Amino acid sequence: MSNLKHVSFPYRCIGKSDEQIVDRDVEPTSMLYWLPIVETLYGIRVPKTVLVPVDPLECFQCLDGNVDPFRDSEVGTNCELMGYPVFVRTDLFSGKHSWSNTCFVEDRGSLMPNLFRLLDESAMRDLEVNAIAIREYIPMATLFYAFYGKMPVNPEIRFFARDGKIECQHWYWIPDAIKKSGAPVFDLAGSQITESEWTHRLDFARQSMGTDEKELLKIELLNTMATVIAAQFEGYWSIDFCLSKTEGWVLIDMAEGDKSWHPDDCEFKR
Ligand SMILES: Nc1ncnc2c1ncn2[C@@H]1O[C@H](COP(=O)(O)OP(=O)(O)OP(=O)(O)O)[C@@H](O)[C@H]1O
Ligand SMILES: [Mg+2]
Repeated sequence: MSNLKHVSFPYRCIGKSDEQIVDRDVEPTSMLYWLPIVETLYGIRVPKTVLVPVDPLECFQCLDGNVDPFRDSEVGTNCELMGYPVFVRTDLFSGKHSWSNTCFVEDRGSLMPNLFRLLDESAMRDLEVNAIAIREYIPMATLFYAFYGKMPVNPEIRFFARDGKIECQHWYWIPDAIKKSGAPVFDLAGSQITESEWTHRLDFARQSMGTDEKELLKIELLNTMATVIAAQFEGYWSIDFCLSKTEGWVLIDMAEGDKSWHPDDCEFKR
């Protein structure tokens, strides 16, 4: 069980001036805890995000069809004002493998079905829902699409930091994670590709980051960003960055380090 953090977060609908302070006790992995800290840091690209508070109990009860946890919330209004498509997740979880049925919301018509699927998948994992995060959708440097939700596989790097210092970093997408799902893989044009084609794409992306001059500059900046973020947090953390199409590396997610996937062969994995 994590040490809960008490957060008082200000909720404000996009375009409105009145603010509501919402008090919650949440695990540190919740965006309600770490997002407000990283949003204040200079030079860190974070997707514009509105955290709309919801009632955790209602989010579970609604799956029986009795209550609508979004009835008085401004989830729809915030999505409209953020501009579709939007990236929608809970404060803990995105359901990313189901992509267009969960976190990728293309238009108003998909919003409610996706939100309920997200709550359903959260409940299956016993994950509390304290807020719905409505995030600016940032086009990423997608390599190919995988899993049954045709999820874009993007260059993504996970850093681990302990008590303010970076310990190690890893390329997030390993072939095994993709292979295990058994789902067909598609290229950017929508044609199915073979395992050797997509593993080649993964390898090529990873290698060009270590050799190409422009990519090396981006990686240098990425290391600086990770160091700046790590310095703000005590304890053990994972810090995830995703490579966007035109704006370099973007900080997308953080979590308690011991709850985050970590390659088994890493010497720093404890
Ligand atoms: N704002 C965004 N715009 C576009 N794509 C995004 C955005 N945020 C995240 N993504 C993509 O969605 C995926 C899942 O996002 P995120 O890390 O927030 O979810 P998660 O469920 O917490 O995942 P994890 O299991 O890695 O902790 C990322 O791997 C990234 O490719
Ligand atoms: Mg996460």
